Amino acid sequence: MRRLTIPAIRQRKKDGVTAEPVVMLTAYTARQAQLLDAHCDLLLVGDSLGQVIYGLPSSLPVTLDMMVAHGAAVGRGSWHAAVIVDLPFGTYEASPQQAFETAARVLRETGCAGVKLEGGVAMAETLAFLSQRGIPVMGHIGLTPQAVNQLGGYGARGRSAAEAEKIVGDARALAEAGAFAIVIEGVVEPLAVAVTKAVDCPVIGIGGSAQCDGQVLVTEDMLGMFERVPRFVKRYADVAGLISDAAAHYAAEVRDRSFPGIEQTYQPKA
Ligand code: KIV
Ligand code: NA
Repeated sequence: MRRLTIPAIRQRKKDGVTAEPVVMLTAYTARQAQLLDAHCDLLLVGDSLGQVIYGLPSSLPVTLDMMVAHGAAVGRGSWHAAVIVDLPFGTYEASPQQAFETAARVLRETGCAGVKLEGGVAMAETLAFLSQRGIPVMGHIGLTPQAVNQLGGYGARGRSAAEAEKIVGDARALAEAGAFAIVIEGVVEPLAVAVTKAVDCPVIGIGGSAQCDGQVLVTEDMLGMFERVPRFVKRYADVAGLISDAAAHYAAEVRDRSFPGIEQTYQPKA
């Protein structure tokens, strides 16, 4: 299976219509990537790894070194999906030049196909700068977790007409700047639909609408690894339950000495 290209994903949406929705999930490790790869068009090495893998309180402390290490692991574990790596907080916002240096390092050291950055109108110039220099960029608007301190929390965005209008403007600015796709997160559904209709590039929803051009979820969320998840998460498995059941079973067998059994021990040759 040849790896999907960014132009192929961009071309999924033709004349405003996306016949085959774009399937995206996050991946942070090589093994996770191997398991998800055949099912996905895009694998996102999200800065959500801060909370999901490292137990951090938000994505803000995530470093570029973390993103590069996990991005390279996901690259090694995939062969079909295009891999996108998030630019972490503080590594791209200051200037287009800063963003280019950061994104170029990510592409060099991970072999990924493109990067994602958060922000709308304010990041359009930066997005164009990268895109014109050979770096495919995915935008991310609506609920942008790196701006949590300014937004005041992780609640849904676009409830007021003024905010909805601003977010449509963000989408237009990013699309015009050359975004190959845009993630829209945590917005009221009519706004997700309006943004999808407003731009030519694929719009990928998370807490958006089934009418978006594709969907993304944090893999650990949809696997049922966490007790508390946002409303927009659907749990497709109960992996937390499987892990704690397996650990409890193992612990009981260690304590009653039924593990290891004959099958798990090396016996002298007869
Ligand atoms: O970091 C992340 O996982 C993301 C997706 C949820 C879009 O940015
Ligand atoms: Na992210």
